[in-house]
Amino acid sequence: MAKARTQFVCQNCGTAHSRWVGKCEGCGEWNTVVEEDPMGGIGSGPGKVPKKGRPVALTALSGEIEEAPRIHTGIGELDRATGGGFVRGSAVLIGGDPGIGKSTLLMQAAAALSRRGHRIIYVSGEEAVAQVRLRAQRLQAAETDVLLAAETNVEDILATVGEGKRPDLVIIDSIQTLWSDTAEAAPGTVTQVRTGVQAMIRFAKQTGAAMVLVGHVTKEGQIAGPRVVEHMVDAVLYFEGDRGHHYRILRTVKNRFGPTDEIGVFEMSDKGLREVSNPSELFLGERNAKSPGAAVFAGMEGTRPVLVEVQALVAPTSLGTPRRAVVGWDSARLSMILAVLEAHCGVRLGQHDVYLNVAGGYRISEPAADLAVASALVSSLAGLALPADCVYFGEVSLSGAIRPVAHTAQRLKEAEKLGFSQAVLPAGSADLPKGAGGRWNEIDSLPDLVARIAG
Ligand code: TYD
Ligand code: MG
Repeated sequence: MAKARTQFVCQNCGTAHSRWVGKCEGCGEWNTVVEEDPMGGIGSGPGKVPKKGRPVALTALSGEIEEAPRIHTGIGELDRATGGGFVRGSAVLIGGDPGIGKSTLLMQAAAALSRRGHRIIYVSGEEAVAQVRLRAQRLQAAETDVLLAAETNVEDILATVGEGKRPDLVIIDSIQTLWSDTAEAAPGTVTQVRTGVQAMIRFAKQTGAAMVLVGHVTKEGQIAGPRVVEHMVDAVLYFEGDRGHHYRILRTVKNRFGPTDEIGVFEMSDKGLREVSNPSELFLGERNAKSPGAAVFAGMEGTRPVLVEVQALVAPTSLGTPRRAVVGWDSARLSMILAVLEAHCGVRLGQHDVYLNVAGGYRISEPAADLAVASALVSSLAGLALPADCVYFGEVSLSGAIRPVAHTAQRLKEAEKLGFSQAVLPAGSADLPKGAGGRWNEIDSLPDLVARIAG
């Protein structure tokens, strides 16, 4: 029999190499490649009889399959981010910086679910049961029937959660503390995390429990350790926030059972996380409408409109190469807007430093913010404040044309609700509400915008 060839697999991204390399060609990480038996012991032992499965025709399944069964927490912002609650038999990864509030959020969710009669097991590998209880007391969750366990060994955890009545939801806080007897690697290594997560996912599939896994994020913004964990689970949510601010955003980046562009917004208080059902009010809270360089962007997060202020500072540079610094937006996108302003509008910025900031530490991912960014930049350069009651949205193309974006009506409705009476938006927007009496200013090119502001 031919000798089984071993493979060298990157523990971060899963890329297989034929020989050992110091730097993975797949993800560029160093020292992540480890020798593995390609069969991994699975089904390769002597005497293993393959089990025959039975394929089922798709049509035979119709009528049998309903919506994924969900467990609603009743915490609106959390249910919104998960797409309607945790799905039974699935695994969700909740990532975030240490100290951002993951354990707090999950303890509150556990308490809410327990009050609704669900059986919840909270497995803490980072804190002792007494510590978890202290937090629960602070969150007024101590009087609920949430079951606590302080374990880190995968086999022990499975024995614990598998005992007695089946749980509806299991929380593992966190995956970085998991270690298994079956994996021959030190605790905390990628192999251990992966083995542990695999075992938890298997448990969820077998018992129909929803599995919530907590993962810490590294400085680079990835779940510490393997990115493969993100591929293994059904949904990935990130809990984000700025240390200087109290609000937190739960952002969906992957979801097999729901939309991926939803966010849940919370505010951290001394009694835990509070839901924020109108985020725009929060983000516009510290507004200084009279200064040049500030433009309000009417954005969308999933199905919900969010208004946020974009701030720019354009100042003559004292350096050979002017500075460009961005917080809360894509820096490549800023370079593009600057280039279009130079090329098509005659706005010279080569001798200016440019700073761009999205208020409140919020992060914008929509290209629709282009117009608000351009407005803030021109306003700062010209030293002229924009009208305080105006919102901006629209995508800028390389030719300087302004392209329509989706959800025009919803953006404008939210703006009106918050007291904005004007808007600058792309010409030809499909769902533009009629009869606004000239308050919606349609423009079709960036030079139009510059003329409006600096005119
Ligand atoms: P925690 O949930 O422990 O963070 P993580 O699990 O993501 O590491 O939250 C830690 C921070 O939240 C800590 O700095 C204290 C703060 N906090 C409050 O402000 N109010 C509260 O009610 C609780 C429980 C924590
Ligand atoms: Mg924690």
